[in-house]
Amino acid sequence: MEPTFLNDGILLREKYNDYVTLLRGRLSEKRFYHSLAVAKEALRLAQKYGANTEKAFLAGLLHDICKDTPKNEQLQIFSEFGIILSALEESAFKLWHAMSGACYIQNILNIKDADIISAVRYHTTAKAGMSLLEKIIYLADFTSEDRDYEGADEMRKAVDVGLEHAMREALIFTIDDLKQKGMPVHEDTLNAYREIV
Ligand SMILES: [Fe+2]
Ligand SMILES: [Fe+2]
Repeated sequence: MEPTFLNDGILLREKYNDYVTLLRGRLSEKRFYHSLAVAKEALRLAQKYGANTEKAFLAGLLHDICKDTPKNEQLQIFSEFGIILSALEESAFKLWHAMSGACYIQNILNIKDADIISAVRYHTTAKAGMSLLEKIIYLADFTSEDRDYEGADEMRKAVDVGLEHAMREALIFTIDDLKQKGMPVHEDTLNAYREIV
């Protein structure tokens, strides 16, 4: 099952069909659908906010490429490409796929575009000084059509009001959620938050 693409989305979906096939093999059905839905939403936001639409589509499509990758394979990617995790990162498995995913698309898929790599790299934690594309991917992950968490509709409204407004809402949501679950908040997330409030 795939989300319905329109106009430019149909063309980009065809152009990157090899990546779609790769994702279908690497991800659960739910995550595969999510990846396409984020690509679609990232494209929409790029059109709305004047970002590069093709980069947005591609970064959205690939952002969770390592999300269903087993721990040992992700550790292997880290060691092969010299990624050293902080103590917090080591204990927060949910953060790994952003780092391993960025590494994977750069070194294995040979994607050389620094904007795309960094949008994948920071899609989970965010960071201070984010680019337009990084913000779009971070937010599309919250507002894609498959997401049904409590507050998703409010976040969809926020993203149509403005990117800065939505970033603030999304960061507050993330930090509250982590605190409620008793999980640590990554320094990059705190820095993003401090910059925007
Ligand atoms: Fe993710
Ligand atoms: Fe995602």
